[in-house]
Amino acid sequence: MKVLVVGGGGREHALVWKIGQSPKVSKIYCAPGNAGISQQATIVPIKANDLKGLLDFALEEKIDLTVVGPEEPLTRGIVDLFESKGLSIFGASQKAAELEGSKAFAKEMMKKYHLPTASYEVFEDRQKAIDYIRKQGAPIVVKADGLAAGKGVILCKTVEEAIRSVDQMMVEKVFGEAGNRVVIEEYLVGEEASYLAFTDGKAILPLASSQDHKAVFDGDEGPNTGGMGAYSPAPVVTDEVNERIVEKILRPIIQGMGEEGRPYKGVIYAGLMIHNGHPKILEFNARFGDPETQPVLMRMKGDIVPILEACISGNLSRCKIEWENMASVCVVMASKGYPGDYEKGKVIEGFKETSQMENIFAFHAGTALVEGKIVTNGGRVLGVTGLGENIPKAIERTYQAVKKISWEGVHYRTDIGQRALCWL
Ligand code: AMP
Ligand code: GLY
Repeated sequence: MKVLVVGGGGREHALVWKIGQSPKVSKIYCAPGNAGISQQATIVPIKANDLKGLLDFALEEKIDLTVVGPEEPLTRGIVDLFESKGLSIFGASQKAAELEGSKAFAKEMMKKYHLPTASYEVFEDRQKAIDYIRKQGAPIVVKADGLAAGKGVILCKTVEEAIRSVDQMMVEKVFGEAGNRVVIEEYLVGEEASYLAFTDGKAILPLASSQDHKAVFDGDEGPNTGGMGAYSPAPVVTDEVNERIVEKILRPIIQGMGEEGRPYKGVIYAGLMIHNGHPKILEFNARFGDPETQPVLMRMKGDIVPILEACISGNLSRCKIEWENMASVCVVMASKGYPGDYEKGKVIEGFKETSQMENIFAFHAGTALVEGKIVTNGGRVLGVTGLGENIPKAIERTYQAVKKISWEGVHYRTDIGQRALCWL
């Protein structure tokens, strides 16, 4: 069969890598892809948000299965569009993806279906938002309602900071339209984890647990990024916690989405805060996490394609996933300056050595091929991912590989996975 993967980041490289191993797949395309993906798939120069362009391509090439990586094409309705033309596509429909596209909608769903989450209020009026902040006191969390590339959440230590954040979103419009409405939320304490699950709208098939590191610098200092690294499994997700996540969060939300006339098919990502064994939901995403997908798929045994197909056909209850009994760690190597401004076009050295290392894979994110050389082309450039017997071994091995790769101004965290060590 012919498969098209939509997107061009590290997550999509991991998807292409895994899907490409399927005996069912004869040809794999990726739009728009990156330099690393071009070694495993045919690159199609169509942007992930060009829905019409992607549709024309899929029809012309008679693509049997399209798999969508990023949130934007999902919230814009790529799944609905492809399905209306009879094409098979893996991902959440537009109405289902609103769970990620609007934080206010997600919180309403959590309230209506009694999911454990932080208490909150939604505001379209600046003054009312400020009055609420003064009443609640700090610490408190201010969130832009719409999509803001993972940057629309401000954790405020003081009331003044919270008011300033409301002004940035509602008056200065630093996140554009996404800040027309704000969600103001209780500040939760605990340890975070990412929990992804496949679903066909009825059955739920969890992926292995994982945890990412959002802050740009070691020790969780500095501004939040899309994710500077991740590991799997996340020891905070014990068997008991796992059961609570499935029964108290995933089952009710998938059932609730069905009841609302928004049947949810695809992969659902729950961002969780876990305190004393009790998970509370921070956010839902309607897609695979990036970089969580890289370490999670490294541990997944067997063929992913029948699972993607079962999510679409409604036969997921017949599927199972086996996991490698090893741990995995992904270290994101980024451009100097990210998540702020950064330069592109720096030549990357060291791939040859890492490509010979066993159980190591350097997934590409922002890379491009220029005159036969692989150069940096984004903020997050690579996600070097390694397997090891346990988390400490996986950390050691992955950093051995990271140290072999370099470019001018490379930045990475040196403490990915450290949080898991407290559990050993
Ligand atoms: P979100 O995009 O909603 O996942 O938020 C980004 C990050 O902000 C999360 O990964 C948490 O680290 C943090 N965060 C979000 N909401 C809260 C909250 N209510 N309490 C504490 N931290 C939060
Ligand atoms: N790593 C966080 C995300 O994918 O949203």
